[in-house]
Amino acid sequence: MKTIQVDLPEKQYSIHIEPGMLNHLGTWTAKIWTPRQIAVISDSHVAPLYEEQVIRQLSDAGFRVAAYQVPAGEASKNWMETIRLYRMLMTDHFQRTDGILALGGGVVGDLAGFVASTYMRGLALIQVPTSLLAQVDSSVGGKTAIDLETGKNLVGTFYQPDAVFIDPDLLATLPKRYLAEGYAEVVKMAALSGNGFWKLIEQINRPEDMLLHAEALIEQSVTFKAGVVMDDEKENGRRQILNFGHTIGHAIELLAQGKLAHGEAVSIGMVQLSALFEKYRLSPPGAAAILTNRLQAAGLPVASSLIGTPDFYEKVKNDKKNRGGRLNMVYLQALGRPALYPLPGDRAGLFFSGKMPEQER
Ligand SMILES: NC(=O)c1ccc[n+]([C@@H]2O[C@H](COP(=O)([O-])OP(=O)(O)OC[C@H]3O[C@@H](n4cnc5c(N)ncnc54)[C@H](O)[C@@H]3O)[C@@H](O)[C@H]2O)c1
Repeated sequence: MKTIQVDLPEKQYSIHIEPGMLNHLGTWTAKIWTPRQIAVISDSHVAPLYEEQVIRQLSDAGFRVAAYQVPAGEASKNWMETIRLYRMLMTDHFQRTDGILALGGGVVGDLAGFVASTYMRGLALIQVPTSLLAQVDSSVGGKTAIDLETGKNLVGTFYQPDAVFIDPDLLATLPKRYLAEGYAEVVKMAALSGNGFWKLIEQINRPEDMLLHAEALIEQSVTFKAGVVMDDEKENGRRQILNFGHTIGHAIELLAQGKLAHGEAVSIGMVQLSALFEKYRLSPPGAAAILTNRLQAAGLPVASSLIGTPDFYEKVKNDKKNRGGRLNMVYLQALGRPALYPLPGDRAGLFFSGKMPEQER
């Protein structure tokens, strides 16, 4: 059992990582919550695999349980599903003293977290992430969100859970493409962290190694992300480094219209951005090659013909993380030494075509 403590000014809680944890979920939940009614929110892929076991665990521990399902996939992060969940909570007479347990990937975590933070001004929340992305990234940090027609994650809250329970064994049923996607975020965090975390990444030489080392990869990622979040919960400063690779990634993910998954786009974004920063001599020679080597070992793509098109420049310029007309791009001065490069939006074309004049760098 690995435990990582998250200490924020208004909330302290623990993230527990243990293979087989789902078999003890009732006991663990009873350590955190007094007897109450719990809504287990899951999706149509995860529920058939794990919901029965979770309900049994919670019932045996003395909780009353209601189970709600949403269709698997990003499309469920919307108002319709949010309102449907509110209505089910109303029908089952959920009170402010009850709780929500999110059992699923990042979609369920974001949606159930949003519902928990808004229903009756806030129900207690426990995250039980089931995808690698959710176990290493989205369940840590307290961001909840739903999407609007105009973009992803445009409505949401910062809402910390009472606990996060991570069972790496659940990854055995996760489709391989999603495993690799989550791993792109792991490589990102290892590159930002450097040292021992990067040494671990050097041991992942085939997709199967991700599962063999899952517990250690999750522990390192959660420790790193929790540390960043504790420094800067609301993303006003250091938390921005987690956007490494995301400016290019967001743009090509949108342009690929569903053909590139988010983690794949981030993988390409990290490598291509590092190649540019190498060219501008802000990242050391070989930075892009080191990342390429590690990402390809997990079967991730590192290049895309979408980069450099007029649509690409337009999307980069309008990136949602654009602040006051500036793109705060993250680059590596070295492994473990990230830095921010504020690029005026109107210079994006020059910068990304590799033609930024020397005096402007
Ligand atoms: N809140 C945050 O800080 C944060 C950070 C990063 C990403 N996100 C969000 O996370 C979402 C992506 O998360 P995701 O990649 O987990 O997507 P997801 O939740 O859609 O899960 C991916 C797929 O795997 C299935 N699945 C999950 N766990 C499984 C398991 N153990 N066995 C079998 N199938 C399983 C799901 O049903 C789904 O089909 C996006 O909506 C993104 O915006 C949030």
